[in-house]
Amino acid sequence: MSDRTIGYIVGSISSTSINRRLAKSLERLAPEGTTLVEIPIADLPFYSPDHDAAFPQVALDFKQAIADVDGVIIVTPEYSRSIPGVLKNALDWSVRPYGQASFSGKPTAVIGTSGGGIATAAAQQHLKAILSHMNAPTLGQPEGYVQSTPGLFSETGEVTDDSTAAFLVAYLEAFGALVERYATERVAAAA
Ligand SMILES: Cc1cc2nc3c(=O)[nH]c(=O)nc-3n(C[C@H](O)[C@H](O)[C@H](O)COP(=O)(O)O)c2cc1C
Repeated sequence: MSDRTIGYIVGSISSTSINRRLAKSLERLAPEGTTLVEIPIADLPFYSPDHDAAFPQVALDFKQAIADVDGVIIVTPEYSRSIPGVLKNALDWSVRPYGQASFSGKPTAVIGTSGGGIATAAAQQHLKAILSHMNAPTLGQPEGYVQSTPGLFSETGEVTDDSTAAFLVAYLEAFGALVERYATERVAAAA
């Protein structure tokens, strides 16, 4: 199997984000041969069609970063039973210019953590509906609902609960298989 690079987007710009900690944990637990790299969204301005004629460099870089990876994991909190505005803004940039939607055909997985019992499930359902519209093949199982407790993730991504760590390893393996399937299909289509 070839080495793979997976990008991750954190749907929170909070300096104390527990979802960023979860993303760091995924980075640490990635299997050998898989590298996780962040695709930053915090510096994107608000999207407007006024930008379509001349995309700002930060938006071009964002789209190129998606193009450069074999798959994307979106790690997001739930805001008011949906996704945070900063994440929706980034996704809006990704579908423009018209006909150049960055997530089309890009294997994508969704995961998130909150202290609440449903652990971002409502946000993830909305996000999967958006990704389906964008033609992104998404990971169905396992679903990434991670309920946070204080200290579950350290700032540098250590996971203090063995069953959570095992779940994250299984989640990464399942997504790795999806990424591999699409990479193989791309090679076959190009041959
Ligand atoms: C504006 C706002 C709306 C929120 N709405 C929800 C919600 O609908 N469901 C939920 O589980 N938590 C909700 N929360 C709590 C977040 O889960 C919690 O703040 C979490 O730490 C955010 O993730 P982050 O630390 O990665 O930024 C909300 C928080 C904010 C600031």
